[in-house]
Amino acid sequence: MSEKKINVTPAEGKLGVLIPGMGAVATTFIVGVKAILKGLGSPIGSLTQMGSIRLGKRTDNNNPLIKDFISLAGLSDLEFGGWDVFSDSCYDAASKAHVVFKQHVDAVRDEIETIKPWKAVFDPEYVTRLHGTHVKTGKTKLDLAKQVMEDMARFKEEKKLSRMVMVWCGSTEAYLQPSEVHQTLEKFEKGLENNDPLISPSMIYAYAALQSGVPYANGAPNLTVDIPAMLELAKIKNVPVSGKDFKTGQTLLKTIVAPGLKARMLGVKGWFSMNILGNRDGEVLDAPENFKTKEESKLSVLEQILEPELYPELYKDLCHKVRINYYPPRGDNKESWDNIDLVGWLNYNMQIKINFLCKDSILAAPIVLDLALFMDYAKRCGFSGIQEWLSFYYKSPMAAPGLKPEHDLFVQLAKLKNNLRYIQGEDLITHLGREYYD
Ligand SMILES: NC(=O)c1ccc[n+]([C@@H]2O[C@H](COP(=O)([O-])OP(=O)(O)OC[C@H]3O[C@@H](n4cnc5c(N)ncnc54)[C@H](O)[C@@H]3O)[C@@H](O)[C@H]2O)c1
Repeated sequence: MSEKKINVTPAEGKLGVLIPGMGAVATTFIVGVKAILKGLGSPIGSLTQMGSIRLGKRTDNNNPLIKDFISLAGLSDLEFGGWDVFSDSCYDAASKAHVVFKQHVDAVRDEIETIKPWKAVFDPEYVTRLHGTHVKTGKTKLDLAKQVMEDMARFKEEKKLSRMVMVWCGSTEAYLQPSEVHQTLEKFEKGLENNDPLISPSMIYAYAALQSGVPYANGAPNLTVDIPAMLELAKIKNVPVSGKDFKTGQTLLKTIVAPGLKARMLGVKGWFSMNILGNRDGEVLDAPENFKTKEESKLSVLEQILEPELYPELYKDLCHKVRINYYPPRGDNKESWDNIDLVGWLNYNMQIKINFLCKDSILAAPIVLDLALFMDYAKRCGFSGIQEWLSFYYKSPMAAPGLKPEHDLFVQLAKLKNNLRYIQGEDLITHLGREYYD
């Protein structure tokens, strides 16, 4: 054990989890936490609740649970609040989402019926398929940001919270590229006052969170905290940020399979990914401008993992296509098909087919939980800006400008665990293994 380098403030008191977008993912997460607390299910898929971490040598047999190794908020310390463009309570929204069975939703009805979303910051230009009515009004975007800050402060007071985190679970917004107004905090704040159309609703929530010293995690692929203005604010306020786009379903499998093929130096000529899904997320993504945001996020993964610039013979001609089709009969039960055309010894062609019948929000809910707990932990560690060690959870992990993001799930996990060891002053695991044979 080396010397402890970072002083972590203990997780005392209640943690408020603030969620813009109380749809399928958010309600599956909240119902799940409440049901788990009642012993009605297990937090499967959550590293903070089920994962262990090896300390020291393999022969030491020292593998505590992560939640026992570091100071994390407990599930019973969580309070939930959020915003939506529809006024449904968490109970009604969870019932309409049809992800969690009625018996689970009803079992926690009393606790979740009182969770009612506050009016949203919404701009139909960014999500054309939704026609929400539960929406804030204000002269300027700065007014709207102030209203979000007031919601947060009121919630903190009412629930007697000691800390808060924000996790965006709202719809994917239309594709946006960084532009002048996003470059500095000063320009961004002028843009808020002048109602600059290139400032999206998600940026207004993020600005409000960072100004209030609240960590912000982005579960969708839209441009939000990954602009210089927000990173500047995060540094000034000493707040951690992370994103973007929860890594679930098809991309999760992609980042499991692709590193394996590359590790064995197998070539890949083509990867065709098809999806059908019928939830509201699917409906929003049916609009081309919103699909483009998702497509960019999904496409970036393979290039980064396979590194065609290092292995041109194996990957330079890779044809990677992603299709998402809105198909209402399936609801949240997404089905995906992947066809992988690979190349082996003496250039012989082979194929792999993957057919994943998943439940989108069941895969996303534990990620929301882990991000809420780890982002709060990061803040208590005194960290600010991009939290690269949380890349594990994202399809498009944020990284410092000029730095390639890490997509390989196993490298991401090793990075996350080594960060925890580092913070706690434990030796890092190098997997060298020589010490057992010397
Ligand atoms: N596995 C997954 O489910 C998964 C994986 C990765 C990313 N995501 C992303 O997570 C987000 C949520 O997914 P979902 O399945 O819960 O979708 P959903 O449509 O069920 O929920 C999104 C909610 O956000 C609300 N909303 C939209 N704009 C808002 C705004 N400006 N302010 C407040 N609320 C707003 C909508 O009314 C809706 O209730 C989507 O962006 C999705 O792309 C989901």
